[in-house]
Parts: sequence; structure tokens; C-alpha cells
Amino acid sequence: MFTNQDVNLTILQKRAFNLRWASVPEGVIPLTAADPDFPCAPQIGEAISKYAKERYFSYAPSEGFDYFREAVANFHSLKRNVITNPDLVLAVDSAAYGIYMVCKTFLKPNEEAIVFNPVDFLFKYSVEAMQGKAVPFAVPLNPNESLNTAEFEKLITPQTKLICLCNPINPTGRVLTKEELTIIGNIAVKHNIIILSDEIWSDIVFEPNTYTSIASINENIAQQTIIVTGYSKSYGLAGLRVGSVIAPNQTLYNLLLLKSEHLSTVHGCNVLAQVAVTTALNECQDWLSNFVTHLTKMRDLCVTELNKINGIECLVPQGCYLVFPDISKTGMDAQTLQTILLEKAKVAVVPGLGKWFGERAQGHIRLSFATSEDILKDGLFRISKALN
Ligand SMILES: Cc1ncc(COP(=O)(O)O)c(C=O)c1O
Repeated sequence: MFTNQDVNLTILQKRAFNLRWASVPEGVIPLTAADPDFPCAPQIGEAISKYAKERYFSYAPSEGFDYFREAVANFHSLKRNVITNPDLVLAVDSAAYGIYMVCKTFLKPNEEAIVFNPVDFLFKYSVEAMQGKAVPFAVPLNPNESLNTAEFEKLITPQTKLICLCNPINPTGRVLTKEELTIIGNIAVKHNIIILSDEIWSDIVFEPNTYTSIASINENIAQQTIIVTGYSKSYGLAGLRVGSVIAPNQTLYNLLLLKSEHLSTVHGCNVLAQVAVTTALNECQDWLSNFVTHLTKMRDLCVTELNKINGIECLVPQGCYLVFPDISKTGMDAQTLQTILLEKAKVAVVPGLGKWFGERAQGHIRLSFATSEDILKDGLFRISKALN
């Protein structure tokens, strides 16, 4: 299922954009955007074909098909211990839009949102799109260090309206502990601040680490939380543009729905994407567990090989299929190293630039290891040859 034969480069070179196979020059291996090189589970393809063969693509309900909302609610009840029901699940056209929509609903100009640093650019982007202020909270670059929750609370002001959590954290691969989440959750309750909990990476957690959703800790915290999740990472459905927003608090849910523009059909989630996600959640858990087993092997390979390269120090991520090595001892900055790797090694990576991950990403590069062992080995060999 996850061998080299399963990666179809001819198709990827035509279809995988966003820094990947279709966007890089021929001969370059992209270990860039976090999107797997493997096709999705066969059941998903079959479910979409069945729907398509019936040739009706009428409007879906604005909040999503009942079966989609039920599958998402069941998943969060059974797998994440979050008490919710289908009426509090909104099908959206991507996790990215979910983040944007939460910011649009709860932030006015000049209001503040706490955003991890480093973290994926989408949070800062969405806060600033509302003319809000993204207040950076330094999270450890070393996944084994704890969050400084005392510093976290100092960032709260009367203007703070939103806490943007990303758990596990893209790009550091840190999985937040229940203790850390409880402290953050209690701070949010105390100051009446909404928590945006981005859980898109929550399926990709490596043993012995375990995942806790902040909304599962207690009812008070759940009432302050809005979960945003997506299916691009775990199920390889990025191009279907689909995600879910779950608000255990009915009042918050109603506000989100109103701002979502779903009721006017300006936005909404397409039908095939909903069929795909329902199938993924109801029928593809074995596929996912095999994928995580494969990723665990790739993570170990990646960390071991990168640490053999002069000037590169790579810690073991607890979650996400990403490594975020420190490259400062190469004597190059991330942008220079990225260019050299592209030109000399013919491997594309993401440089740790402020615009992608925040200022604290400096001196790092990000690599995705969601590919076959052969492709990953080839990419790592090329990097090693170019740098050693
Ligand atoms: C933390 C995080 N949130 C959201 C997204 C976007 O997901 P989607 O493809 O569903 O928009 C990504 C994609 O890289 C991500 O890493």
C-alpha cells in the first residue's frame, strides 16, 4: 500500500501542485508541502465513482449532508472523546477556510489573537486578513521541552479574543500534553477567550505519544473551543478542499454558520468531498493505521540520515509527517540552503522563513516524509552528497 510501486509519478507530475511534483523542475524530488505521494484509500475512489455514476450533483444542505455530519460527530465522540452531535458540525471547503472563518467570526480590527511561533502561516494570515493583531507565543523548537504557560498568560490583554492552537504543531511535530492543554484551556475560560483548535494533524501521532483534544478536557473548556480539522494530511484529499468545523457551544456554532456565507451559497462544501470524507471516517481506519506505521519508519529513516549530515541537527517529531532540522551549523541561512539543495541536490524543501512559519523558524528547514522509502532515501542521499 505504501511502497514505491504505489507512487505514480506520471500522475503526480500532472496533478500535485503547491510546491510539489507538478510545480518543481523535472528531476527534482519535492519534500515540500505536506501532502502525501500516495493515492488515497481505494474505498474513497469507489465511493466517489458510485456517486458520480448516478450523475446528480445537486446542492447539498448548507451545513453538510446528514451522513457527513454524523460521521464527523461519531469520529470526535469515539476517537477524540469530544461530546458533540451532528448539529454542531459544519462541513467546510478546507481547514484553511475553517481557520479563516473562525477569525472572521470572532475578531474585529485591532483585536488580538495569540498565535504560536513557529507555526503554519495560515493563522497569522487569517488574523491579519481581519485586521487583527497576531501576538506570537514562542513554542519550543525541541519537541521534548514543555510550553512556557506562565509566559503564555502574560500575553493576554483585554483585546485578546482568540487563542490559535495547532496540535500537533506544524512544523515542529510537537504533540501538546493534556497538562499543557488544561492550563491553556483554564486560562481561556478564566478570561473568556475563544480557542481555535486546529486538529488537522491529530491522526499523525507516533507512539508512545498520544493525542488529546483540548475540547475533551472538561465541559467549560469545550464550550470555549472551536475545533477546525481537515482531511488533506491523513487521507490525501487536499485537492477536494474539505474540512470540518465543530463547535460544542450552540451559540458559537450559530455565529459561525451566520458568518460562513454558507446560507447564501457564497461558500459551502462540495458533494464529492463530503462523500470522500464520510467514507474515510467510516471505512478507512485500517488504511490510516497502515499509513501511520509506514510514516513511523520514514520518520526514523529521515531523522537518522539527516543527523549524519555535517551541520544538520534533527530532533524526532512526535507527530506530523514533517521534520524541522536545525541547519544553522551549516553556516548558511535557510533560504540559501534551500536554493543550494534545489540546484545541487535537486531536492526541494521549505525554508524556515518568517513568512511561512514565524520568526523563530529561522535556521531551520522543513521536510515532508510522506513518500515511499525509495524516494525518501534518494532525496536524503542527494542532500547528504551535496552537503558533505
Ligand atoms: C496546521 C494546518 N492547518 C491547516 C492546513 C490546511 O489544510 P487544508 O488543506 O484542509 O486547507 C494545513 C496544511 O498544511 C496545516 O498544516
